[in-house]
Amino acid sequence: PGERPENETEKGLRVSDKGFLNTAVIQSRITYIDGDAGGTYLSYSSTTVLTSKQLRGYPIEQLAEHSSHLESAYLLIYGSLPTRSQSTHFETEVLRHGVMHADAQTFFRSFRYDAHPMSMLTSAFAMLGSYYSEANPSLQGQRLYTQGDKASLETMDRQIYRIIGKATTLAAMAYRVRQGRDFVTPPTGLSYTGSFLYQMDHLSEENYVPNPVLEKALDVLFLIHADHELNASCTTVLQTGSSLVDPYSAIAAGCASLYGPLHGGANEAVIRMLISIGKPENVPAFIEAVKRREKTLSGFGHRVYKTSDPRSFIVRKTADAVFAVTGKDELLETAMALHDAAMKDEYFIKRKLAPNVDFCGLIYRAMGFPLDFFPVLFVVPRVVGWLAHWRQMMLQEGGVKIWRPRQIYLGPGKRDYLPVDDRD
Ligand code: ACO
Repeated sequence: PGERPENETEKGLRVSDKGFLNTAVIQSRITYIDGDAGGTYLSYSSTTVLTSKQLRGYPIEQLAEHSSHLESAYLLIYGSLPTRSQSTHFETEVLRHGVMHADAQTFFRSFRYDAHPMSMLTSAFAMLGSYYSEANPSLQGQRLYTQGDKASLETMDRQIYRIIGKATTLAAMAYRVRQGRDFVTPPTGLSYTGSFLYQMDHLSEENYVPNPVLEKALDVLFLIHADHELNASCTTVLQTGSSLVDPYSAIAAGCASLYGPLHGGANEAVIRMLISIGKPENVPAFIEAVKRREKTLSGFGHRVYKTSDPRSFIVRKTADAVFAVTGKDELLETAMALHDAAMKDEYFIKRKLAPNVDFCGLIYRAMGFPLDFFPVLFVVPRVVGWLAHWRQMMLQEGGVKIWRPRQIYLGPGKRDYLPVDDRD
């Protein structure tokens, strides 16, 4: 109804790019992905022009082999691998900031008994903002972060330590409240993942010490999940952060975005899918249903990777180490049958669909994490990437420009309001 304004697109060049397939919204020096080669590099150089074969970034395989999640977190956020003293300082600050205000216990207890942990975690990050007004430019009445200003960089660092440190604490609280168990204060003397496992489970046995193989496996999984450039959740953090809101609110927005089954919720969806398939002999019928578009093959396909996701190889290696401790997951055979069938099928070959990182759900299941906790295990490490991109944007030359895209308007032209009795 009504006449569509014809001059809507005559105000300059406007590009329609549904799903942002070809839109670059920022210049970044953090992570480079060559989707055709299937490699991820965490760049540490602030001067190198990042082109496909001439990187000075670190291959993710090397970091998974030699680094740790927190060391790589430092690399992602500050641009270079830390010296020993920088590393000690960073780890100490992150772990020290794991402690939560006691009031947060009341907050967690206010949720329904069966609340999804991602709903709790998303709300909890937003709640954190209410504790730290120093991070809120609206309350401080000024732009907070300026490159070269020591005080403002220190303020920023504190928010970074807090968010990474408290991510494990809030996640463990979401886990324990669901089980009606008391909360645990973060321990001292354990690693980041060791402390996380302790907070989750230390009441299960006396003098609980995290199993070193599982602690290391979780660290590797955290490291490979820490950043993946401008995925949906990272983009959401930047979009939200571009209004100069406090980082806790921006991280809460990213957490909400990650929850969806096309993104971080896929690791939970993979296991639900495998459970629904059941035995390996049911795989061919499932594949046919996917091809008829009646079902989704979760854990396959990626916007950037058009060959195998390199992280999936690290997941496989990590799975072997974990299964040696926990025993094999009964769904493993079904997962392998599904993988083999899809990789041979013309439908998937033609569309360049390969396994992504989300089959790591099998490892989480073997480690005893409940199914709906899997996306939380994605958020905890991913806050690092979100913060690295947020920091980069806040400190970029020329300041932050608010992200305000345009649309192609297809609605009605001007029409006059009719009183309700005059309408057909
Ligand atoms: N199963 C079956 N077909 C698929 C799948 C899949 N998992 N993924 C994509 N396709 C098909 C699409 O139907 C489309 O086919 P068509 O051209 O005949 O219509 C074609 O492959 C291209 O797919 P798009 O959806 O256009 O690709 P896009 O880049 O927009 O989406 C996404 C990427 C969302 C990851 C998609 O592959 C998907 O839904 N995968 C399953 C969910 C999943 O595993 N998500 C996790 C992603 S990784 C992460 O966030 C950690």
